[in-house]
Amino acid sequence: MSGRLAWRRLLLLLSWLVLQHYSLGCRAVEDAEAEIRQPYLVPLQVQSCFPCHGPRGQSGSSAIPSLAGLPREYLRKVMRAYRHGGRFGTVMGRLAAAYEEADLIVMADYFSGQPIKAQKQTTEWRLVDLGRRLHRYYCRDCHGDPEQSAKPGVPHLHGRWMDYLRWTLWDYLVGINQGDEEMATQLTALMRRHGAKGVEALLHYYGKGKP
Ligand code: HEC
Ligand code: HEC
Repeated sequence: MSGRLAWRRLLLLLSWLVLQHYSLGCRAVEDAEAEIRQPYLVPLQVQSCFPCHGPRGQSGSSAIPSLAGLPREYLRKVMRAYRHGGRFGTVMGRLAAAYEEADLIVMADYFSGQPIKAQKQTTEWRLVDLGRRLHRYYCRDCHGDPEQSAKPGVPHLHGRWMDYLRWTLWDYLVGINQGDEEMATQLTALMRRHGAKGVEALLHYYGKGKP
């Protein structure tokens, strides 16, 4: 084979490789975009959640929680709690009542399978430091961090919207949310020793995103 021909072949092979790689990379992005552009790819029940909870459950509003990556059992339990009144919701109580158990399974399957994206938020480093210590003492056993995995079915807190977590935490503290009994004990102990500043420190630590 002449040198020239070999060159041509190499060039051809290289361009084929580049094209192949490029189109594969694009395809992954396109899959995600297609889901948003072509809504019929997402189950109908799930689409009704997007206007508030964001496309694929990634909420752009600090008052509304992202659903992406929350544990499947937790999502189902919470929807049932909204329906039966064990959890306070400004809108979710009425909304959850409109769905059947089978719909809840479809929604929980979809959202638990979506990737978690940490929200960018402004935090105060002194509070983040205190929050980290408090988290390790009071909350880590169940909610986990990079050194210790969360208990199955317990929602993650790092990278979540601080506003939403603040309201939800206070709903647990005043007792209109009935969650885990052991968590209620830990929250009471935290309040007794550290007061509202302790709660705020935890929120800044979670809001920072990276544990
Ligand atoms: C009108 C806006 C709106 C729509 C539509 C909506 N949600 Fe919500 N959702 C909220 C708000 C606001 C909250 C916070 C609780 C509250 O105030 O009701 C919430 C909270 C939740 C939570 C609690 C998350 C957590 O971290 O504990 C779940 C689960 C949830 N919604 C599921 C759904 C599902 C599934 C759908 C689709 C059927 C849906 N929501 C549709 C506004 C909405
Ligand atoms: C014994 C285990 C346990 C401990 C300890 C614990 N939690 Fe929880 N936490 C849970 C469980 C289980 C849930 C889901 C409860 C429900 O169904 O409402 C939860 C839910 C939450 C939620 C609601 C999240 C959401 O998506 O709405 C917040 C906020 C929270 N915990 C904060 C804390 C903080 C802060 C601490 C430490 C002071 C703590 N938890 C300690 C088990 C625990």
